[in-house]
Amino acid sequence: MERETAVVSPAEMKRQAAFIREIRDLPHRPDTYFIVTYGCQMNAHDSEKLAGMLEEMGMRPAPRREEADFVLFNTCCIRDNAERKALGNITWLREVRKSRPQMIIAVCGCMIQEPGMAEKILKQYRFVNLAFGTASIHRFPELMLQTLESGGNTVVVDQEDVIPEGLPVRRMRKEFAYLTIMYGCDNFCSYCIVPYVRGRERSREPEAILREAEALVEGGTKEIMLLGQNVNSYGKGPGGISFAQLLRQLDGMGIPRIRFMTSHPKDLSDELIDVMSASRHILPQFHLPVQSGNNRILEAMNRHYTRERYLDRVARLRQAVPGIGLSTDIIVGFPGETEAEFQDTMSLVREVRYDSAFTFIYSPRVGTRAAKMPEQIPQEVSSRRIEELIALQEALQQETLKRFLGCEEEILVEGLSRRSDTAVSGKGGHGISTTFDGTAEDIGKIVRVRITGIKNNTLTAERMDEKNA
Ligand code: 5AD
Ligand code: SF4
Repeated sequence: MERETAVVSPAEMKRQAAFIREIRDLPHRPDTYFIVTYGCQMNAHDSEKLAGMLEEMGMRPAPRREEADFVLFNTCCIRDNAERKALGNITWLREVRKSRPQMIIAVCGCMIQEPGMAEKILKQYRFVNLAFGTASIHRFPELMLQTLESGGNTVVVDQEDVIPEGLPVRRMRKEFAYLTIMYGCDNFCSYCIVPYVRGRERSREPEAILREAEALVEGGTKEIMLLGQNVNSYGKGPGGISFAQLLRQLDGMGIPRIRFMTSHPKDLSDELIDVMSASRHILPQFHLPVQSGNNRILEAMNRHYTRERYLDRVARLRQAVPGIGLSTDIIVGFPGETEAEFQDTMSLVREVRYDSAFTFIYSPRVGTRAAKMPEQIPQEVSSRRIEELIALQEALQQETLKRFLGCEEEILVEGLSRRSDTAVSGKGGHGISTTFDGTAEDIGKIVRVRITGIKNNTLTAERMDEKNA
């Protein structure tokens, strides 16, 4: 049965805004905040919304978490190591607080939404002042006020699948903006915890998305990244428009650069490929997680496509958008994966020749189907497989990136290069990090460069002219 999903009512959003004002006027409210973010772009954008609310409460960012009055951990639980890292850092901060007793420690995000986690926080992490899940983000002002008044251990896990509209946002970069188009996931890949912690799939109204995009363009945003766990199934349900149609509308709005992620291969339509091919502003980049190159494993993963169908989609994309930048996600050591099945993944990687690949060792997540499967693969076997895969991908990447040598690209500069303060880096249309000579003055500009080299899986370039588009 389909569950009703709902945009949070304007009356409720108003109620929350009143809590924000109440906190702002409190004599003893915290002055500074620091948000520690783990995981995906969705979480990064949630943190921007939480920062937006904190700023409206009158708080300003602290330079380091140790110096903040309010520290918020926005957690991820996609793999066991993400979870362990967050819990370790939260426990470490408890020690710091011993010499800084006014510090409030809060935890939010996917991990809180995991089955059993609320109880665990209440019992084992009693020093945490506030914990709330992804479904309660719009209620943060109310929960914050409750915490400030009680000083206690508030844990809230809502299960409703809501769409919060109109939250204040404090964007990390002015020229680049995340724009959520849908929430949740209905795919239930057998290894994945996301559908359990982010709820059922629900799409924002096209008008709300277009309005947000319009405001961003007016504010000088040069690049928008559309976000969703599975953007290709945007708008499913009666009366909705498809992702391809949404993209077509956004393409006509004068946004200089548009990207999106993540796409599920089973929903990658010809219509979408055609829109990309005809578009002026959608960048030639596609993140298309394959997970495995073996059909039996793909079926056990509940992915609903075969290796052949996946390769067909890749061929169509490359035909329609020549030179497109392709990236993927791959899991090794899924329960029951034999050596031959793993080698099918290796051969798929050889065949596709990705520009980049995010590779993961399978991590059992409580509550998912795969966690109960027999034949869990020993860690040594998975470690060896991932090393083999990474070595292959790195070798291939050196080759695939050669096609950019001598080409012109427009780079949106993200910041100073990590290795030098006379160099800057950013991404070109194909989504590959590119470094060239520059200064802090260039940050946020679109700079035209010529690609001159390949270094550590990224590109190096020299400047041509500057374009402040
Ligand atoms: N173990 C390992 N990797 C996983 N991913 C999702 N769930 C798991 C898991 N249980 C990977 C998938 C997905 C990416 C975001 O994380 O490759 O595409
Ligand atoms: Fe997880 Fe699959 Fe949904 Fe991606 S599509 S979030 S891997 S269940």
